[in-house]
Amino acid sequence: MSRAEQSAEVLIRAEGVGKSFGDGPATLSVVRELDLSIAEREVVLVFGPSGSGKSTLLSILGGLDRAFTGRLSLFGRDVTTLSDTELSVLRGAQIGFVFQAFHLLPHLSVLDNVTAPLWFAREHSPPAQAEARGREVLAQVGLADRAASRTAELSGGQRQRVAIARALLRRPRLLLCDEPTGNLDRATGEQIIDLFASVHQESDTTLVIVTHEERLARLATRTYHMVEGRLGEEPAA
Ligand SMILES: Nc1ncnc2c1ncn2[C@@H]1O[C@H](COP(=O)(O)OP(=O)(O)OP(=O)(O)O)[C@@H](O)[C@H]1O
Ligand SMILES: [Mg+2]
Repeated sequence: MSRAEQSAEVLIRAEGVGKSFGDGPATLSVVRELDLSIAEREVVLVFGPSGSGKSTLLSILGGLDRAFTGRLSLFGRDVTTLSDTELSVLRGAQIGFVFQAFHLLPHLSVLDNVTAPLWFAREHSPPAQAEARGREVLAQVGLADRAASRTAELSGGQRQRVAIARALLRRPRLLLCDEPTGNLDRATGEQIIDLFASVHQESDTTLVIVTHEERLARLATRTYHMVEGRLGEEPAA
C-alpha cells in the first residue's frame, strides 16, 4: 500500500454488518458479516447475481437503511450515534445516489428533477444558481437540450443520465451507483463510463458501483463479487 493510500481518509467503514428480512424460519439473510473499508478516491465495483443483496448493501453503505446489525461509520462518524436529521444532512452534503429504479418525478421537468436535491438542502441556493448548476450537470451527461422535457417523455437511457446528473449536482465526495449502465445501449454505456472516469479524475470522487458492466473494470481500484449476501474480493489483476 502506498503512502498516499495509507493517509487517505476512510469514507466508509463497515464492521460485521448484517441485514435480514423477516423472522423465525422465514428469515432471509441478505447481507452477512460484512467487513469493508473504502478510502477516498477509490473506485469499488460490486458484481453479483440478481438477489444477492447488492442494492440492499448499497442502501446500508449510503446511510439510507439504518435497520442493520454491526457497525458502520460514514466519513468518520458512527451512523448509530447520528440522529435522522444529522444523517440526512451528511448524506445530502457528501453522498450522491444513482438508484436502480431512478426515482425521478415524472411530471417535473428534467431540470427540476436534477435540482430537486437543492430544495432539501439546508443551505438555500438562489434559484438562478441552482438552475445554472442544474444545466451544468445536464451538459455533463449530454442532456443540455432536454432540460425542459418532462422525465416521463424520456427514454430509459436518458432517464438514467438524468439520475446521474441529479446525483452529481451537489458535488458529492462519494457516489453510490446501482447498475448505472443497466438500461443503456453499448455506446451510451461507454459515455457513462467516460463520465464516471472524468468525475473521478477531476473531482476525486469516490465511486462504489454495483454493476454487470465489465468495461468499468478499467476504472476499478477494487472489485468484489456478492454471492448470497457475502462479499468476496477479487484478487487484483
Ligand atoms: N423490503 C424487502 N423485504 C423483503 N425482502 C427483501 C426486501 N428487499 C429486498 N429483499 C430481498 O433481499 C434479497 C436481495 O435483494 P437486493 O435487491 O439487495 O438484490 P440485488 O442483488 O440488488 O438484485 P438485482 O441484481 O436483481 O437488483 C432478495 O432476495 C430480495 O427479495
Ligand atoms: Mg439491485
